[in-house]
Amino acid sequence: MQHKGARRIDRRPVTRALTAAACALALCGPAAQETRALKDLVPGGWLIGVAINQNQSDERDTAAVDLITRQFNAISPENLLKFESVHRQPDGFTFEAQDRYVAFGQQRGMAVIGHTLVWHSQTPAWVWAGSDGGLADRATMLERMRVHIATVVGRYKGRIRGWDVVNEALNDDGTLRDSPWRRGIGDDYIAKAFEFAREADPGAELYYNDFNLATRPAKRAGAIRIVKELQQRGLRIDAVGEQGHWRLNTPTVAEIDQTITELRATGVKVMITELDVNLLPPTAPPAPGQPREPAANPYVDGLPDDVQQALARCYANAFRVFLKHRDDITRVTFWGVSDGDSWLNRGRMNYPLLWDRQRQPKAAFEEVTKVLMTKS
Ligand code: GLA
Repeated sequence: MQHKGARRIDRRPVTRALTAAACALALCGPAAQETRALKDLVPGGWLIGVAINQNQSDERDTAAVDLITRQFNAISPENLLKFESVHRQPDGFTFEAQDRYVAFGQQRGMAVIGHTLVWHSQTPAWVWAGSDGGLADRATMLERMRVHIATVVGRYKGRIRGWDVVNEALNDDGTLRDSPWRRGIGDDYIAKAFEFAREADPGAELYYNDFNLATRPAKRAGAIRIVKELQQRGLRIDAVGEQGHWRLNTPTVAEIDQTITELRATGVKVMITELDVNLLPPTAPPAPGQPREPAANPYVDGLPDDVQQALARCYANAFRVFLKHRDDITRVTFWGVSDGDSWLNRGRMNYPLLWDRQRQPKAAFEEVTKVLMTKS
């Protein structure tokens, strides 16, 4: 069915040249901006967020800054608060850009999110290293974790609304990932991280965050076990984040619905924390020096209209489920501002978000806003 009212995005070279010319004549200025704002349309109390990069939190990317400010009421740092960004060396923390990120959100009255304290990735090797070249012992690793959390969470006490305390602790089968944190400390490293975060800022919300919770029921069950164990220990956990790195046909609407229902049944809230929709075929990177197969990068000249409309429907369907669960969900955050900002490009041309490379709203934006307008 032809989608009505959608902007047809055609990026053939001639069109691109014309678009650039029109922009040069300022026709793509404020007049071409979207007239609706996601943050005004979401149910009361919801946060609608976006992950921002340092060019954005430092306000160098002014077009993105305008868009973020107009559209969103929450921000997550794409990389700035990861262990390797903030605590690269054992005896030194880096806070300049991080402070600017927090100030960016505060100045705009946004909820500022912290991402992420304990993860197996983007963490420097010293964190887990023992003096003998192997893994550090439990006490040493716990103390490093405690100092990291106390310093970073403590610095932004009262200013960061909530923290992804532990990221991606699970395998797809629901067992605990054999990360260096787990090998060094034991299974209770998760509980310890939540305990340290609570100590550092008793007022901050604390989250467990992972991917594939919608598509892998066993993994979802693992997340539910983590929540219940934290609750049994009397530790604070406010919400589970399903990252939401999704594809056009997966997860299904039923899977998203079921996931929110099951997670919410534990008593905590649910968040979609890193939403994007990957439109490219799964593929291994080309061998060094070899060109990429054209089939691996099918949309170099633009996104065909049928795929653009499929993306819009996919987002609309997801937001219908989110709205159905409006009292269960506290936040939906997109992982990136516009297609050009997305981690999903990685040398290819992907189109996973609501704004295109020119920061113009896509059909997906129009459809999401239409769904949100039906909410009451
Ligand atoms: C994971 C992490 C994010 C980000 C994305 C990909 O989902 O939680 O911080 O690194 O991968 O960019």
